[in-house]
Amino acid sequence: MTEALAKTVLAYLLGNLMGGQIVGRLRGGVDLRQFGSGNVGATNALRTQGKGFAVAVLLIDVLKGVIAALLVPALPWPAALGGGDALPRETLGYLCGVGVALGHCYPVTLGLRGGKGVATLAGVFGALMPLALPGMLLVFVLVILFSGYVSAATLGAAVFALLWALVIDGHGPLSAPALFTVAMAALVTFKHRENIRRLLRGDEHRFEKARLIGR
Ligand code: G3P
Repeated sequence: MTEALAKTVLAYLLGNLMGGQIVGRLRGGVDLRQFGSGNVGATNALRTQGKGFAVAVLLIDVLKGVIAALLVPALPWPAALGGGDALPRETLGYLCGVGVALGHCYPVTLGLRGGKGVATLAGVFGALMPLALPGMLLVFVLVILFSGYVSAATLGAAVFALLWALVIDGHGPLSAPALFTVAMAALVTFKHRENIRRLLRGDEHRFEKARLIGR
C-alpha cells in the first residue's frame, strides 16, 4: 500500500497549489477570498477580477488535476523503498484524483478552507474518463446558457458524470470509475452547499450576460 499512499499524498500536496492564490500573488496580492462569493476558483475570479485572471486560475487548477491523474501515478517507485503496489495504473490514477481534489478543497496551506474542486476535477475526468467529459461540458454550457448560474451548471455536470459512470459506462457500480465519480459528486455537492441554499432562496450569483436562452 505504500506506493499508493505516497502518491495519493503527493497528489494531495499538488492540490494545495491553488490557482487563485498563485495568480493573486502574481497580481500584487489579490486574495479572492476577500471578494465576491469568497471562493478561490475561476468563477469568482471571473466575477471579481476579469477574464485574464480567471483563465489563468482555470488553467492552473485544471492542469494540476491532469498531472495528478496521469503523471503522479506514472512516477517511478524507488527500489530502495521496497516493492511498489500491484495496483493497476488506472486505479492509482483514481486514488491520486481523490488526493488532488481533497488537496484543492481542503488545503493545509489555507487552513483546510479551499475551493470547490470543479476545475481540478475537470482535469482529472478529462485525463481518466475522457469520453465522459464532452457530455459533462455540454450539460455545463447548456445550464449556463439557460440559467446563468455556474453552480447549477456544475451540479448538472456532476449529475451527468454519475449517469455516465453508473449507467452508460457499463463497468458496474463497484468499478473504480463509478466509486470515484460517486465520491467526487458527493464532495462537489457538499462544497456547493451554500450555493444550493442560495439557488433555493433565489439569491445565487448569476452571470446575466451568459444567460442567452429563455430570458
Ligand atoms: O466552480 C465553482 C462554481 O461552481 C461556483 O463558484 O464562486 O459561484 O461559489 P462560486
